[in-house]
This record gives sequence, C-alpha cells and structure tokens, in this order.
Amino acid sequence: MSLYARIAGTGGYLPEKVLTNQQIADSGVDTSDEWIMERTGIRQRCIAAEDETASSMGEQAAQQALAAANIAPEDLDLIIVATSAPDRIFPSTACLLQQRLGVRRCAAFDVQAACSGFVYALSIADQYIRAGGAQRVLVVGSEINSRLVDWTDRGTCILFGDGAGAMVLEASSAPGLLSTHIHSDGQFADLLYLPNPINGKNGCELPHIQMQGNEVFKVAVNTLGQIVDETLAANNLDQADIDWLVPHQANIRIIAATARKLKMPMERVVLTIEKQGNTSSASIPLAFNEAVRDGRIQRGQTVLLEAFGSGFAWGSALVRY
Ligand code: COA
Repeated sequence: MSLYARIAGTGGYLPEKVLTNQQIADSGVDTSDEWIMERTGIRQRCIAAEDETASSMGEQAAQQALAAANIAPEDLDLIIVATSAPDRIFPSTACLLQQRLGVRRCAAFDVQAACSGFVYALSIADQYIRAGGAQRVLVVGSEINSRLVDWTDRGTCILFGDGAGAMVLEASSAPGLLSTHIHSDGQFADLLYLPNPINGKNGCELPHIQMQGNEVFKVAVNTLGQIVDETLAANNLDQADIDWLVPHQANIRIIAATARKLKMPMERVVLTIEKQGNTSSASIPLAFNEAVRDGRIQRGQTVLLEAFGSGFAWGSALVRY
C-alpha cells in the first residue's frame, strides 16, 4: 500500500493593518498606485502589528489548519516552519510555535528557502510521510517582510506584505501530494538577498532586502516555465489535467506567463496578489486556504503549486486535493 501525504486541513492569517499603494505614495515614496498596479498587480498589503512575530502569526494559521483537519496539536509528529523573518536566529521559529501550541517532544525545525520556503517544507514533509517517518506534519509559512524592506526604496518596498499560511498533512493510502520538485542555483545569490547584520561592519544596522528586480523577473519566468514542464512530465499529465494553479504571488506578470505556459485561463489561477502583495513563503498556503474555504478548490481536484525566489531556489508540488 503506497503512502501519500494528504492535505487534511488548511489555515491562514493576515494582520489587521492594511497599507495601500496610495498610502505609500502619500508617505513620500516616488511612486504611484497606477505604476505599482500596472507593473506588479499589487494594490495593497497587510502589515504586522509591533507585537506580532512569525510564530504568533504562524500559530493563528496553524490553529485553523489543525481545526480543519480535526487533529489535536499533541498528535503532530513534526512541525516545519518556512520563514525569512524568524522571531530569533535560534531557537527555530518552529520550536517557538511548538511552545505556543502547547505540545512537547515532536520534532520541530525551520526551512530557509525564501519565497520557495513553503514548497521546500512541503517537499520535506512529503518525504517524511512517504518514508513512514511521520504520520501527521504541520507545515507553516510565516513572514514579516515589512521589517525587511527599506521603506524609502521604491524598487522593493512596494512589493512585499506580511502574513502566515498553514497546512496539516497526514499519511493516507490515497493521494495526496502526487510529486514535489525542488531546485536551487546559488550562482544567482547576489540578485536578491537580505544581508545578515552579524556579518556587517555596522553590527546594529537593520538589514534590508537587496534586489535587481528586472533580472529576477527574467529568470523567474524562464525557470517557472521549466518546472511546470518537469512536474507534468513526472506525472504523465498534460496541461488540461490541471484544475487550479496556486502560484507564489510575486508579480502578476510572472504569474500570467506561467498560466500561459499551462494554457490556463486566469480564472483557474488563485490570485491574492492584489490584496496581499508578496508574502514570501506564506503566499501559497494563504492562497490555497482562501480557495479551499470559498469553495473553488474541491476534494479530488488536481492543483499545481509553484514558487520561485532568492537563492535562486524554486520548486513545485502537484496535489490531488
Ligand atoms: N514606482 C515608479 N517607478 C518605479 C518604481 C516604482 N515603485 N520602481 C522602479 N521604477 C522605475 C525605475 O526606476 C525605472 O525608471 P527609469 O526607466 O527612469 O530608470 C523604471 O521604473 C523601470 O524599472 P524596472 O526595474 O525595469 O521596472 P520593472 O518593470 O522591471 O518593474 C519590478 C520592477 C521590481 C516591479 C519588477 O522587476 C519585478 O517585479 N521583478 C521581480 C521581483 C520579484 O518578484 N522579486 C521577488 C521574487 S520572489
């Protein structure tokens, strides 16, 4: 009997505060709502409150996912958190989330793969479940990008937002995750990165995201096209077999290029970018959760998840929901 990782429940959390493009322009950044909307598809993003952290937001999303899965936190075998904004450098945000969930002993660790973090974490969870090393795994993506950008840099501050998304996976004899695919290429490490202040001359200065946006854009479009082909070929499927595309939400033009590659109308693509911006590793579970809860994604349907980000690291997962 094959073992699959089945998505038993999903959850999402967005901070209350909303920041619109217009508010960014009004704050003195040389940009406009029209430019941002046309070049990125983003209209607004959510901003975490001062007392919120990756683990506190992750807990909200995780509790929802656990409730939907009807699984108690103490029944988890493994907690994996994808984040680029950990509460502390150590211990892992996953350990802090474990503490918040009031459970002990199950393994907990973080994955750092920037915007592809959730797909990476999902892939690891899938391997554990298929190998019989875990029965129930909580996978969370939680990000506070608003603390990582320079709010005077119009090339980056307009893009990002905060939020958390979660999935609970459980071992099942029926699919489940059909396949996951992850790759990286460190040759591109300088095109998109966040410096670590412990290595800088000014140890106390807060680091900001550094990005060559149009270079990132070009590689993202090409690479995502390739991962779509790889995923379909690995499963002997063609474009028409995919019911929904749930992409990482970085730029509407990158998403549209992937949808074209799949010959998929935009109505079959789950989009959150206009209201949430790029929430890095939280974007896929947030979008998936939204489409499950509003009834778009139905049990039995085939869903393609894909992400690309700093590293570069990229990946996909094909899901029979
Ligand atoms: N408002 C107004 N003008 C802006 C601007 C802003 N927020 N940001 C850049 N510009 C200007 C540039 O200064 C440049 O002006 P110039 O021609 O006078 O020099 C012009 O717009 C074009 O800049 P460019 O960087 O080529 O724009 P673009 O169409 O590539 O859009 C991004 C910029 C950042 C939106 C786009 O490159 C992008 O989304 N890249 C991918 C980034 C990404 O997804 N990163 C995360 C990966 S997970």
